[in-house]
Amino acid sequence: MEIDTALAQGDGDLSGPELRKLLAMVREHTGIAMSERKRSLLQGRLRRRMRALSLTSYADYLCRVESQPAEVTHFIDLVTTNETSFFRTPRVWAYFAEHFLPEWQRAHPRETLEVWSAASSSGEEAYSIAMLADAMRLSQPPFDYRVFGTDICSSVVETARMGRYEGRSMDSLRTSRPDVAARYFSAEGEAWRAAPELRARVQFERHNLMRPLSSLRLASRARRFDIVFLRNVLIYFDGPSQQQIVSNICAAMKPGALLVLGESESLQRFDTGLRFEQPLFYRKVTGDAHV
Ligand SMILES: C[S@@+](CC[C@H](N)C(=O)[O-])C[C@H]1O[C@@H](n2cnc3c(N)ncnc32)[C@H](O)[C@@H]1O
Repeated sequence: MEIDTALAQGDGDLSGPELRKLLAMVREHTGIAMSERKRSLLQGRLRRRMRALSLTSYADYLCRVESQPAEVTHFIDLVTTNETSFFRTPRVWAYFAEHFLPEWQRAHPRETLEVWSAASSSGEEAYSIAMLADAMRLSQPPFDYRVFGTDICSSVVETARMGRYEGRSMDSLRTSRPDVAARYFSAEGEAWRAAPELRARVQFERHNLMRPLSSLRLASRARRFDIVFLRNVLIYFDGPSQQQIVSNICAAMKPGALLVLGESESLQRFDTGLRFEQPLFYRKVTGDAHV
């Protein structure tokens, strides 16, 4: 029987104990505090997956997630919201290019800038960082940089690793910054691929921000960063989880490093050792003992 027919014949709506159990599983695997108001969103996403697995009830799907670790990865991909774009929130990028990069280079003339795009989704944020830093590398030698992108959702990490974009994401980059798009992307069939010099400096890994970055086995990457982009992700968590994430991030920031948040996010309620620098930017002012 088709899943939609089966669900229509029984109780097709996700509700009651099954809904509560699913929300608890979302929290267990991602830390995300999803409310019952997200029921229809969750239901639509689960049905697609259940159809692919030929499962006809939410209870069967819950069992599948509980009994098969591989399904947990799919489940996490289903419940995360990965909306992103190149150069999202223009004022962030103006400050990064015009103030942060030149000031950092003056203060660290021979070092490699280490950047972390935490919750990088499909990589547009990390490549935006790389395009601006690369312009600096070409114009101000010996400046160099590396960008580390992480996300809990495995499918977006794969896209980011490929550095291959099409559709709305690429259209908006080509419209808003045509010179930059032409310099750093080349056509590959219907899509556009990031230039090799960017891809060589950008690395992506799957990582859950609820855990310390030190729990991730990194062969050759920095564990401490000069600037961390943590944008448009804290909004999905409750207060205690936000505090946990910010503490984990702080532990991976060098003294004096900057943290960049999304427009609807703030650190006001937290004990962090970070000082407001200017809207959306916070500076780590304490030593590591305090974070
Ligand atoms: C709305 S996107 C933001 C992407 C990008 N930072 C931006 O501002 O455009 C939020 C991302 O956070 C990721 N995410 C959610 N929970 C996470 C967790 N516990 N650990 C790591 N990433 C998480 C999601 O998979 C998603 O890709």
